[in-house]
Amino acid sequence: MSTDEALTRNQHESQSAHKATAAFQTRYGTEQTDTPLSDWNDTLQTLLSHRSVRAYDGRPLPAGTLETLIAAAQSAPSSSNLQTWSVVAVEDPQRKARLAALAANQEHIRQAPLFLVWLADLARLESVAERASVKPEGLQYLETLLVGVIDAALAAQNALVALESLGLGSVYIGAIRNAPEQVAKELALPPHVLPVFGLCVGYSDPARPAEVKPRLPQSVVLHREQYDAPAQTQGIALYNDILAGFQVRQGQSDALWTDRSIERWRTRESLHGRDRLRDALNALGFELR
Ligand SMILES: Cc1cc2nc3c(=O)[nH]c(=O)nc-3n(C[C@H](O)[C@H](O)[C@H](O)COP(=O)(O)O)c2cc1C
Repeated sequence: MSTDEALTRNQHESQSAHKATAAFQTRYGTEQTDTPLSDWNDTLQTLLSHRSVRAYDGRPLPAGTLETLIAAAQSAPSSSNLQTWSVVAVEDPQRKARLAALAANQEHIRQAPLFLVWLADLARLESVAERASVKPEGLQYLETLLVGVIDAALAAQNALVALESLGLGSVYIGAIRNAPEQVAKELALPPHVLPVFGLCVGYSDPARPAEVKPRLPQSVVLHREQYDAPAQTQGIALYNDILAGFQVRQGQSDALWTDRSIERWRTRESLHGRDRLRDALNALGFELR
């Protein structure tokens, strides 16, 4: 290797290390003691730069975007390759508005040019079995629904990473499960298909940019060899401070992450209708044995 080549390589490595450290600091909202790989790349940069986007400008998506996102989604692993998921792409403004009304009236569903509803889809294989004159007993078990939900989540997250790599933004909409039967009716879903969550897709409004939201320190979520509950207390207290600071900089309240999180589980009402999910699932044909 020539001196010039060695110099360029050194510069590249130091730029990579700098990018990696900066991405870690933003992701955790604090100076980092964890050392990232110095061998940084665009995929890691995209992953660590994720932020949910709830304000879109009016730009339409380029032709081929949907098909590219779906190919990325279908590239996700799938349990036994059963591919127990489907997705409904909604672009019709009126349908988006009706879905928004069912999902806690979230304005970004109306605003985003594309709203994807990800489905755990057990109906496809059920009809395959029916055509083979088989009544698949396994269909009625909770495990089978879980397979569909996991498949749908992995597929959706692949699409999310793909769209972010293309400069688009998105936000998941779990509130689609506030009224699963109505959503199923709106999308003409057959029995044994569950809307798992929605995903708004569009270009972020530059006037209302979203920021990377810090996550719990690794010391809280990463356990080596065995689960260690006591080790989490200190990291959670630190995270309360970091996230409160982040929220204040975003013009939000300084409510603690622990307090806000407890509120989400405090009462049945705090589940916003999802406390009756088992009934809704039964109505959609899932026995959940
Ligand atoms: C399954 C799921 C459902 C979500 N549902 C909603 C929702 O209904 N509305 C919303 O504004 N954000 C929703 N979010 C986004 C989360 O609030 C967001 O991911 C979290 O606050 C972390 O912020 P970040 O994505 O910007 O890092 C959801 C996220 C996930 C993973």
